[in-house]
Amino acid sequence: MKNTPFWFCFLCTFVLVGFHACKTEPLTIEIPGAPIPIEGEGETPEYVSIIESDLCAEGVISFEREVLPILVAGCAYSGCHNAASHEDGIVLEDYQGIRSEVEAGDPNDSEIYETITENPNDDDFMPPSPAYPLTSEQITIVRQWIQQGANNTTCRVPCNSENTSFAADIFPLIQDNCLGCHQPTNALGGINLEDYAHIKTFVANGQLMGSIKHTPGYFVMPPTGEKMTDCQIAQVQNWIIEGALDN
Ligand code: HEC
Repeated sequence: MKNTPFWFCFLCTFVLVGFHACKTEPLTIEIPGAPIPIEGEGETPEYVSIIESDLCAEGVISFEREVLPILVAGCAYSGCHNAASHEDGIVLEDYQGIRSEVEAGDPNDSEIYETITENPNDDDFMPPSPAYPLTSEQITIVRQWIQQGANNTTCRVPCNSENTSFAADIFPLIQDNCLGCHQPTNALGGINLEDYAHIKTFVANGQLMGSIKHTPGYFVMPPTGEKMTDCQIAQVQNWIIEGALDN
């Protein structure tokens, strides 16, 4: 019986620690439309109201906010035109690299514009299959930017972080900033963001917010080019707080 207190204490500690561990285990109940907790930040995300200022003058294309994200997601990944791969010596992840493939004022004499508008069966067509071709809206942005002089414009595009909807705000952001690298046929890192159902997975595990906010412990997304603006990040965050609905 001499050892009883020792064993008793050991048992107590075990019970206490075990009980504590159970108590701190988060209890997750799925309520449709309820905010989805964002993991890994140790803070409750707050609804942020931002309306973008420094907007581009009417009709002016922003290199930093429109052209760069499209070309990074469409072209600047491993095996193609990021700094590490520089296929054919071409790096399309910053202004200098992109500008050197462009004849200011003349899209038809600009290497980048020629390759994205080439016949899709041609060897020079970019982005190469199986990646999706750029959309006609994206091609128009590149063309207009070249026509306007291919300047390093950094003006902002309209953004209001309030009343966001998946179709009007969130999917277009993902389409321009992410989809080129995260399509079903070109799912870098195994990540596919093609539609609501797929995107929702990365809302639930915290990786969508973690990667676009550059939270330590997550890969930085987009991996090169510019970080999304505070207003764009707030749009995604507010949409999640409001339940990450397919609206
Ligand atoms: C230029 C290509 C490229 C673009 C653009 C891009 N990604 Fe990624 N992404 C990757 C690669 C490659 C990985 C795999 C991780 C790595 O090797 O860096 C990845 C990984 C991820 C992951 C997993 C993160 C983690 O921490 O495990 C998420 C989530 C993600 N991307 C979301 C996004 C979102 C959202 C955007 C748009 C804002 C985006 N990505 C834009 C290439 C890209």
